[in-house]
This record gives sequence, structure tokens and C-alpha cells, in this order.
Amino acid sequence: MTITSEELREKHVDFFKKNNHVEIGNASLIPENDPTVLFTTAGMQQLVPFFDGEPHPNGKRLVNNQKCIRTGDIDDVGDQWHLSLFEMLGNWSLGDYFKGEAIKLSFEFVTEILGISKDKLSASVFEGDKDAPRDEEAAKFWEKVGVPKERIYFLPKGENWWGPAGETGPCGPNSEMFFLISGGHAKDAKEFMERGEKGEICEIRNDVFLAYNKNKEGAFEKLSQNNVDNGMGLERTIAVLNGLDNVYETDLLKTIFEKVKELSNVGFNIDTNIKSARIITDHVRAATFLLGDPKGIVPSNVDQGYVLRKFIRRAIRHARLLGIQGSFCKQISEKVIERMNKHYPNLEKNKKFIFSELAKEEEKFSIALENGTKKLEKTLGFLKSAGKKELSAKGAFDLYQSNGFPIEMTREMCSEKGFAVDEKGFEDLLKGHQELSRKGAEQKFKGGLADNKEETTKLHTAAHLTIAAMKELINPDTEQKGANINAERLRFDFNSDERLTDEQLRAIEAWVNEAIASKAIVSMEVLSLADAKKSGAHGVFDSKYGDNVKVYTITGSNGKVYSKEICGGPHVETLAGMGTYKIIKQEAVAAGIKRIKAVLE
Ligand code: SER
Repeated sequence: MTITSEELREKHVDFFKKNNHVEIGNASLIPENDPTVLFTTAGMQQLVPFFDGEPHPNGKRLVNNQKCIRTGDIDDVGDQWHLSLFEMLGNWSLGDYFKGEAIKLSFEFVTEILGISKDKLSASVFEGDKDAPRDEEAAKFWEKVGVPKERIYFLPKGENWWGPAGETGPCGPNSEMFFLISGGHAKDAKEFMERGEKGEICEIRNDVFLAYNKNKEGAFEKLSQNNVDNGMGLERTIAVLNGLDNVYETDLLKTIFEKVKELSNVGFNIDTNIKSARIITDHVRAATFLLGDPKGIVPSNVDQGYVLRKFIRRAIRHARLLGIQGSFCKQISEKVIERMNKHYPNLEKNKKFIFSELAKEEEKFSIALENGTKKLEKTLGFLKSAGKKELSAKGAFDLYQSNGFPIEMTREMCSEKGFAVDEKGFEDLLKGHQELSRKGAEQKFKGGLADNKEETTKLHTAAHLTIAAMKELINPDTEQKGANINAERLRFDFNSDERLTDEQLRAIEAWVNEAIASKAIVSMEVLSLADAKKSGAHGVFDSKYGDNVKVYTITGSNGKVYSKEICGGPHVETLAGMGTYKIIKQEAVAAGIKRIKAVLE
């Protein structure tokens, strides 16, 4: 059976719609209201507020396909299955159905809609520990749909517990479905794990029973409702359905991968060059999506911008290993856009920006890479003759500071020559050098909605007031380009060519404080997207919304409507007691994008 990715996306949405799910949009790669992570790493990310009682405007059963970025897997990229950017077919129950229905729907979709033979399937369930019981319940449901008892494996938390995506947030025991690629079924959990490692058994679907919240003390508390978060990687599923043993030959990646091979100047050798070709394919694809995101991320030395920079720089290094000299990213990126644009029209729309940012980064890094590589080779030569096996922290830091080598790249280059790197020492040097530590990119923000609900909720409402003030006082075309909130402050990016003057900043503060002083009330209504637009509510109208949206309106006791904005929430109910709003800093983050930091005192 041959099936394209377009057909698979459609079959997935159709099936769950027939089972009373409502389709929601494909959210930005940069999460709107979740400071615990830098990227959307799973389909559930945009739903975090709704797992604990907050009603979703589109109901309790949802479905979509979602672009995701996972940097945790970056070292595995280059093998058959791992990607930094991938798409997730997801369906959710928000306090509606639980394990029985989730397993029934999963099994029906995989066997009846996708036609995967029952004989090839097995399942895993959580074996239980001090935080949650052994999942006999899920095992019974797998048996009930037709998975034989001996092919249901009980595994520990490391395998069968999903989340939270950051340090805190919704999580729970999960149950995975596996496809047998070769050989017979495993006789026990131990053999099952070993065969999985060898790629003979491949995970195809994950049913997470999101019933817990991990708090900042590391404890697991029950959420107020039982939720289901089901996910299925699009690229892997397409590969399995088409009898392929890797994702790079699927219709999603093949033309991009072929272009990399075509540009390669070393007489492409499948054994020695395939890893580099896969890394270039994956990283340029991820960079193209990040640059094409409406949030306007550009390469930089912090946060998402630094991850983007790492993707591009690592792709450049691997291109040189394939003998590709000079600028090449645009040619690969063109293939990404050509293939993905139908589903992600933002890519075509932002094409000029994507190509120019890729070219700028290539120009910046090319000479530094050449010089840094020579420097590193010389140093490793000295170390070797001195019988040493580790590059010092100072050596790695010099490459980082003078040549722009991300530490992961230095590690990779050293390990190829049999050397380790003093990474701990490197981190210490980096911390001493910078005000902001860049380590642990995805889990950098330890606070979050889950932990500091009251403070972050207030700042979230303050973000609505900030954009409303800017639209009224500075320019009605001002748009929010990203927001990051922790318990201490609001960081808010917006489009503006000029820095705002001190007078403008003070005027914004006064406007927001006037709304607070008037003890404005925050109300919410659910409207269709069309009615929301008609009502004058603002929001970035890309593909991220479903049919129905929540509109939050802030109305002063004097009757003035301060803000009307489409948003998932949550928000405070009244501005009374919010404190005094103060803008403490302004900076330029990229061409045409400025950032302010604001606090409530
Ligand atoms: N959130 C789960 C995962 O990422 C299921 O979608 O695997």
C-alpha cells in the first residue's frame, strides 16, 4: 500500500472528526503562553491551560496535526528515525473520554483506517511506581481490542511516562503502540527493549493519560480532570506504511535529501556521507520553518535564536564535510518550501526573509568555521602528542567566543577524532562571562504558568494591555511578535523600525496604569473566528486558531474598552490589585523587531 503524507494527514483528521473531535489549528513553533519551554515540542503544548479545568472554546475532543521542534534529540539526528522538526498527528480528550476510548480509537485508526496488520502490533504500558499505580487498566483495554496478553509489555517510568514538556506541567503514564519491522514478537519486556534499540520494533503511536501535574518541587499532583493526549509522528508513520526503513526517503524529505546529495562534491558515498546529508536535510528544514514562523525569530546568541543559529551552523559544517563550499542553504531551503508550502503557506510568504537570514548566517560563519577548524586541529595535534584525551574548557570557550562554535559542534568535532571536551568547565566559563546562562535551552525557564499561576496570569493580562496601548498610542499596525512570561516579568516583542522614545514608553505605562486604576473587568466570550474578527478583536490571524476562539475583553469602570484580543487564556478577572505597570528595559532583537521588559510592582 502506498500512501502520501497529504493522504495520511487527511485520513487522521477525518477519522477523529467522525468520532466527534473538532479540528484545531497548527500552532506557532514558539509557544504563546508557556514560559516553561522554548519551542512547541508536542501537539499538546498549545493546550496546556486546558488540561486542568479551563474550558477550550472548541470543546472537549480535539484533533490536529502540529509542527514540532525537539532539540533534545539533536545528537540522534543522522540516524534513520530522529528529526529536529517533525509533524505530529494528535487527538485529545480534555476531561472527556479516558483510557478505554483512547485505546479503542487508536487501535481502530491504526488497523482499520491505515490497514496495519494486527499481527504486527504490540503495546507497552506503565509498570507503576510510588507516583502512580501499575497500569493494569490500560493493559486490559489493549487485550479487549485484540492485542494478545503476551504482547503487552510493562515498562518503567523512563519508558512509559510522558512529560512534562518543560520542568513542570501536565504529564502522566503512557501506553505506546509498536510495529514489528523484522523477526518475531519479543518474549518479554527485556527482549522487547533490546529489539527496540536495534530498530527491529518501532514505536508508532503514543497514548498519554495526562492525569498528573509535576510541580516545581518535583512532586506529581493529580490534575482536576483525566485527559488523553495521543500523538503519532507523521514522518515515521509514512515510512512504516510505505515499507521504508528511514524517514529521509519519505515523500516529505526525499526531494530535500536528494538536493543535498546532488550538491555534494565528494562522490557521495552512502556509508560515510549519509549522516552529514541527513543532518543538513533536517537542520535546514528546521531553520526554514523557524525563520518562516510569524513570530519572526532570527539567529542570535540567546533562546530560540541560538537554537536556530546552531541548526544553521551545524548544517554548514556538515556541508563542508560533503565538499559543498560557499553558500548553499538557499538551494536546500527552496526545496523545503517547494515541498511543504501547500500545508505551510507562511514559508512562501516569508521566503525572502528566510533566504536573506540564511545567507547572512552563512556569511558570518564561513570564515570563522574555517579558521576555527584549523585552530582545533592544531590543538588536538598538540594534545595527542602530549598523550591527552580532553580539550580544555578554555579551548572550547575560545572556539565559542572567537569562532562562534556552539559547544555541541566542538563536542562533535572532538569526538570524531577521539577526544572529549571539558563541558562542565566550559559551562562555568560561559556563566561567568554572561549575564544570561544559555545552557539547557529548552528547559531554561524554571517558573511557569503551572507554578506561579497568579503572578504569570497577571502578567499575561498585562501583555494584552501592552499591545492595546501600543496600537492606540504608537501605531495601529503594531503586532505582538512573541511574549515570554515568568513570575517576575513580561518580555514582549513587537514590530517597530524605530526604538520607542522615553516619552512613548512613559505614555504606554500611563495608559496601562489608567486601565488598572479604573479596576477594569476582564470578560471572556466564545465566538466563531469570523465573528471574532468582525467584533474588532485582534490576534495574529495565521493558521493557529480552530473554528471557535475565546475573545478576552478588558472594560474599564468608565465604560472604555481597553483591549479585545483572541487568546487561550487564562487571565485575571479584574485589574484591581494588579499593582503598578512599569517598563524596565527596551532593546532591539532583530531588524524591525523591538523588545520591552515590563514588571508589575
Ligand atoms: N505528547 C505525546 C508525545 O509527544 C503524545 O503526543 O509523544
